[in-house]
Amino acid sequence: MDKAIDYRKYLQLDTLINIQNPESASGPAECHDETLFIITHQVYELWFKQILHELDAIIRVFNKSAVDEHDLFRAVAWQLRVIEIQKILIAQLTIMETMTAMDFLEFRDLLIPASGFQSVQFRLIEIKLGLGTANRSCVDRNYLLSALDSQDQQRIDGAEREPSLFGLVEAWLERIPFIAGEGFDFWALYQEAVDAMLDGEARIVSLHSRDPKSALSPGLSNVEASRRNFASLFDQGLHDNLVRDGQRRLSRKAMLSALFILLYREEPILQLPFNFLTNLMDIDENFTAWRYRHALMAHRMLGRKVGTGGSSGHEYLKKTAEESRFFEDLFNLSTFLLPRSKLPVLSKALKRDLNFHFESKN
Ligand code: HEM
Repeated sequence: MDKAIDYRKYLQLDTLINIQNPESASGPAECHDETLFIITHQVYELWFKQILHELDAIIRVFNKSAVDEHDLFRAVAWQLRVIEIQKILIAQLTIMETMTAMDFLEFRDLLIPASGFQSVQFRLIEIKLGLGTANRSCVDRNYLLSALDSQDQQRIDGAEREPSLFGLVEAWLERIPFIAGEGFDFWALYQEAVDAMLDGEARIVSLHSRDPKSALSPGLSNVEASRRNFASLFDQGLHDNLVRDGQRRLSRKAMLSALFILLYREEPILQLPFNFLTNLMDIDENFTAWRYRHALMAHRMLGRKVGTGGSSGHEYLKKTAEESRFFEDLFNLSTFLLPRSKLPVLSKALKRDLNFHFESKN
C-alpha cells in the first residue's frame, strides 16, 4: 500500500511545473508575459507528442500488405482524436494573442536564434503525414535541418526513411480491386456522365457570359481546364505531366480508387474508407488553418520584422501555408464528383460485392 500511486507522482508534477524558466528572469527585470509564452509552447509540444502517438498507430495499421477492417475502424477513431486536438491547437493561439506586440518585444531578442524552426516534433508530424523536408517549395532542406542539433537531425533522417501515411494510403488505394466486371465497364459509363456534366456547365457559362462567343471567356476556359484535368485521370501521359508540374502527387490508380470511394460512399463496404479519406482532408485542412492562423499572429506580433529563426517572418509563414498541403489531390477530386442522380448505375454483381451479406440460419 505504501507504494500506492499518487496524483503528483503519476503526473510527475514536480518536474512539469518546474520547467518554466524565463530567460528574462536572469536579467534586470523579469518580463511578466514570458511565462505565458513558455507555457503555451510547452502545451503545444505536449499535444504534438499525442498527435505523433496517434499517427504512429495509424501508420502501423496501414504498413501491412492488407489493411484489416477492424483496424481501419480504430484508425478512423484515432484520426478523429487528432482532429479534435487540432481544433484546440488553432483555438489556443488566441491565448497567446492576449500578449501585445510591445510586451513580446520586451523579451523577444533574448530568444534569438531559438524559433519554431527547432520544433522537431512539428517536423516529424509533417514528415509522417507525407511532407518530407526535401519537397518544400518555400524553403530548402539544408536550411530547415541547419536549425536543428545533430540528435534532432538524426530523428528527422530516421523518420524520412520510414513510410509516410501519404505513401501507405496511396498503396492501399492502389490495391483496391479494379472496378470492372464482365460486360460492365464502370469507367466508360462514368466518363460519359462527366462529359455530359461538363457540356452542361459549358452551356450554362456561355448563357451567362457577357460575350458568349468569346473563346477568352474565363468561365469557358475553366471548363476546358476541368476537361483536360479530367482526361488526365484516364491518360497516364497527361497524369505524369501534372505530377512533373507539381500539380498532382497521388498515382493515377490511387486517384481512381479514391474517386470511386467518394462517389459511392453510401455503399456499405465503402463507408469506412470514405470516413477515413474525409478525415485525412480534415487533418490537412486543420493543419493549413493553423498555419494561416499562426502566420496572422506572427504578423500582428512582428509586423514585417524577420523571425527569431532568421526567416522573412510573416511572409515565409504565409507562403508555407499556401504551399504545404498533404492530401491536396483528395480535395481536387471534388472536380469530378457528380450529383447522385447522374451517377452510373452499378451492375448487380458489383453492387453485391459492395454490400455486407447476412444469411439467416433458419
Ligand atoms: C509571439 C508568438 C509567435 C511568433 C511571433 C511566432 C513567429 C514565428 C516565425 C516568424 C516563424 C518563422 C521562423 C522564424 O524565422 O523564426 C515561426 C515558425 C514556427 N512557429 Fe511560431 N511564432 C509564435 C508562436 C508560436 C507558437 C505558440 C507555436 C506553437 C508550437 C509556434 C510554432 C512554430 C512552428 C512549428 C514554426 C515552424 C513553421 C514552419 O517552418 O512551417 N509558434 N514562428
